[in-house]
Amino acid sequence: LENGLARTPPMGWMSWQRFRCVTDCVNYPDDCISDKLFRTMADHMVSEGYADVGYEYLIIDDCWLERNRDANGKLQPDGSRFPHGILDLSNYIHSKGLKFGLYEDYGNYTCAGYPGVLGHLEEDAKTFAEWEVDYVKLDGCYAELKDMDIGYPAFGRYLNQTGRPMIYSCSWPVYQNFSGIRPNYTAIIETCNLWRNYGDIQDSWDSVLSIVEFYALTQDEIVEYAGPGHWNDPDMLIIGDFGLSKEQSKSQMALWAIMASPLIMSNDLRTVEPDFKAILQNRKVIAINQDPLGIQGKRKLKANNIDVWVRPISPIVNGKYSYAVVIFSRRTDGTPYMISVKLSDLGMDNEAGYDFEPMSG
Ligand code: GLA
Repeated sequence: LENGLARTPPMGWMSWQRFRCVTDCVNYPDDCISDKLFRTMADHMVSEGYADVGYEYLIIDDCWLERNRDANGKLQPDGSRFPHGILDLSNYIHSKGLKFGLYEDYGNYTCAGYPGVLGHLEEDAKTFAEWEVDYVKLDGCYAELKDMDIGYPAFGRYLNQTGRPMIYSCSWPVYQNFSGIRPNYTAIIETCNLWRNYGDIQDSWDSVLSIVEFYALTQDEIVEYAGPGHWNDPDMLIIGDFGLSKEQSKSQMALWAIMASPLIMSNDLRTVEPDFKAILQNRKVIAINQDPLGIQGKRKLKANNIDVWVRPISPIVNGKYSYAVVIFSRRTDGTPYMISVKLSDLGMDNEAGYDFEPMSG
């Protein structure tokens, strides 16, 4: 979407994977989806150095709403968990120098059963602007698949008409993919700044592997649609949660960088251990993710359960790209394993050769 936003993949934090739909603030006062949780995460995004390296959007996922709209049909947050209202929370997040994101759903209900935007597209877009939202994640539960090709662009136009720049994150293609409908990516890149193509990430290595495999297998179809303003979204970073080891966390970070993926963490910023924080804050890897050319990388080789991924990046020297390369082992046999790779097999064709800068660690 050419709205001037997301010229590089968006970076930030989102509640879903780690905090889900915990609404019981009596038994889980520190973990429930509430005003307090988001203020605390905003504080930590800044004080723990995440904002300094580029994490910017703090996004409320599902379960922030009351079960019903108010008497005038307006969306309202859960009164006990968001006692100061959304604008007050948005102001707080902005006061920390961050940007504010909010989840809704194109259908009748959100995936967790709260009111969706269907039937209220224009007024809800206005409400989002009034609440000074900077990023909208629009999910696709409880919606007719055949309506999405019209409904997602329609909501996008209403967002645009508010005059407030808002990143527009769509779930349109994932619902179509899962129903065997081929997404119309030409329309999707005109409508959305980012879009989910595949199922939800879970807190496990298996989940990361299945997502990476999906992007490798569909790369010839989808990679060309990524670029400044419009990105494929393989879902949240789970680094710092329960499911990934340190080496597996490095792999997720490296692969998300090579795939030009949004870097949206979903973890508990209060408890991320130093080694994992260092992976999330690795400036060199982030710089590759944020490369201004915005070309999404591809898997170029697969041998002995080791994959080699390559992404063209800047600077372009004498008409030739520079490259970022990830050598990604899925092996579990714990011993060094030799592979040899010819640069020409990776599509790197500069006769003058390449300088090499290792980035492990
Ligand atoms: C869907 C989305 C998730 C999350 C949940 C919330 O499953 O794909 O990212 O937003 O809904 O209910």
